[in-house]
Amino acid sequence: MSTIESVLNETRIFPPSSEFARQANIAGIQGYQALCAEAEQDYQGFWAKRANELILWHKPFTQVLDDSAAPFYKWFADGKLNVSYNCLDRHLETQADKVAIIFESDEGEVQRVTYRELHQRVCQLANALRSHDIKKGDRVVIYMPMRIEAVVAMQACARIGAIHSVVFGGFSAKSLHERIHDAGAVAVITADEQVRGGKHNPLKATVDEAMRMNDTTSVQLIVVYRRTGGEIPFDAVRDVWWHDITQDASAECEPEWVDAEHPLFTLYTSGSTGKPKGVQHSSAGYLLGAKVSMQWIFDYKLTDIFWCTADVGWITGHSYVTYGPLAMGATQVIFEGIPTYPHAGRFWEIIQKHKVTTFYTAPTAIRSLIKLGGDLPAQYDLSSLRLLGSVGEPINPEAWMWFYEKVGRSRCPIVDTWWQTETGCHMIAPAPGAVALKPGSCTFPLPGIFAAIVDEAGHDVENGKGGFLVIKKPFPSQIRTLWGDPERFKKAYFPEDIGHGQYYLAGDSAYRDKDGYFWIMGRIDDVLNVSGHRLGTMEIESALVAHPLVAEAAVVGKPHEIKGEAVIAFVVLKGKYPHGEEVVQITDTLRDWVAKEIGPIAKPEEIRFGENLPKTRSGKIMRRLLRTLAKGEEITQDISTLENPAILEQLKYPSK
Ligand code: WTA
Repeated sequence: MSTIESVLNETRIFPPSSEFARQANIAGIQGYQALCAEAEQDYQGFWAKRANELILWHKPFTQVLDDSAAPFYKWFADGKLNVSYNCLDRHLETQADKVAIIFESDEGEVQRVTYRELHQRVCQLANALRSHDIKKGDRVVIYMPMRIEAVVAMQACARIGAIHSVVFGGFSAKSLHERIHDAGAVAVITADEQVRGGKHNPLKATVDEAMRMNDTTSVQLIVVYRRTGGEIPFDAVRDVWWHDITQDASAECEPEWVDAEHPLFTLYTSGSTGKPKGVQHSSAGYLLGAKVSMQWIFDYKLTDIFWCTADVGWITGHSYVTYGPLAMGATQVIFEGIPTYPHAGRFWEIIQKHKVTTFYTAPTAIRSLIKLGGDLPAQYDLSSLRLLGSVGEPINPEAWMWFYEKVGRSRCPIVDTWWQTETGCHMIAPAPGAVALKPGSCTFPLPGIFAAIVDEAGHDVENGKGGFLVIKKPFPSQIRTLWGDPERFKKAYFPEDIGHGQYYLAGDSAYRDKDGYFWIMGRIDDVLNVSGHRLGTMEIESALVAHPLVAEAAVVGKPHEIKGEAVIAFVVLKGKYPHGEEVVQITDTLRDWVAKEIGPIAKPEEIRFGENLPKTRSGKIMRRLLRTLAKGEEITQDISTLENPAILEQLKYPSK
């Protein structure tokens, strides 16, 4: 192979309004270019300056980047700080009574906590954990509903230097067990039950089940937050109630001052094969990335009401719920429920009610909201919005246009942010007051991020050609290692063949257009090879989604005698699941459509319809399962991270 071909032809462009540009933190393209030039000239000085401006240091650093053990980079290594101090204490003098969190429960009950109150709650839990012998460096698994307490638990760990590992509340006992075991966690913080979309999910019972899977468990303590008061198993020795241990705890807690490189957390990310990888982040570099991206990409202002819909079980919920917004002193919304309960207008209702200014969500949510009620946003007052954001997958240009017109009313820039669990914060994303937007493109790297597209040998490919997305220089917020597996870390992210172990390999394919804009084409593993043409999945899917009948689409390759691979498309229609003659008609229509939009090369050989697509619990389409189905094989892979296993049955056979 040499490169990956791009077939998408998107020509719409949306420059920032002069009104937005005027007030922006990075104003105009010159502002952006000046920052990039600064980083080019003095790379280390550039980051040192930001680290001094944005972080309160207990002991200042003298050393910026230590690359002596590359790719195990260290940043600001002789500095000391505490991340929770940087998120809470620093605001007490200036804005203690500002609301930090507006919380809305699944049932619609609203609670507000100020920075003073949040600080107290975090200190109380931190003291309680300390009095139960949890100390610096201990691993604590957090398995919580999306509530204020989840943030308190994470911040309390950060305060005492314990390393948290949040496990999404939707994961099974098996996944939870695997993560507890791999981390060697000494404590678990959980709740009796989680409530989402009106359904109760027994978190504590699942923790107990996970405990039983291995009788040599490292866990000494289980802290249980009472969410519903439902009946739960309780072990008198090992289990304690959150309210019992915190009620008499002091509301002051001296933070543990840790080294810049002290691990703040690990977060497991499920690779397409093998056991989950425990991505380990640092304290200072990570915090710096979260803050600087709040300023540059979210154009954060003190008057904003910020809402990131991600669960704290994902990196997005770490960087843009627990750490970034609090470090900035923001007011943010946290929502316990799901977008479609009790009705498909719930997100728009929350934006209206709490006057949200910045709304950050995932393409999967956007596509499902289009399917369920494309005109619903019009029924709400969304005039408080000033900025929209997207993360997690490539956003198809038509979904982008809908988000832009129906939600942002053609007033709000959309920041399409490309990044990963491993990068800690945004890597490629528009500074919204500087960069003209193209629907479906994440545009340009952040200043100081040296992203590039290279071929198999690590050489830059020319604009218009697809290849491997890499980052050529280390950056403060990057992954430090994989917990307990430094060899796997090196192999997976700094491979010898591409860039001689010098480049961070993201695992995505991408290309730059003639203007230098970055377009993500999908995961490298998902690239199709049709008659010698290597095609990313995103472009064919985007062509399908651009058809008025289609809500969602995923394409995969199926071995083909002549072409090498044939394109198989799995499609969710906006309307009902089709039958009989409709299947034939719609299939023909869509095949012709793709041929016209992209070219005959991309025309699907077969189209299967479903009411949904198989997705991970964070909403990413699981193409590897679709590949198995397309081949007509039985699924033998691990599907424990799949959100909706029932859908596989429907997609197993050609639609009739
Ligand atoms: C994909 C989420 C296109 C990509 C923060 C990446 C995206 C993976 C985008 C990381 C985007 C994320 N455009 N693709 N804006 N954002 N991705 O670790 O394939 O859950 O490698 O981190 O999601 O997913 P993760």
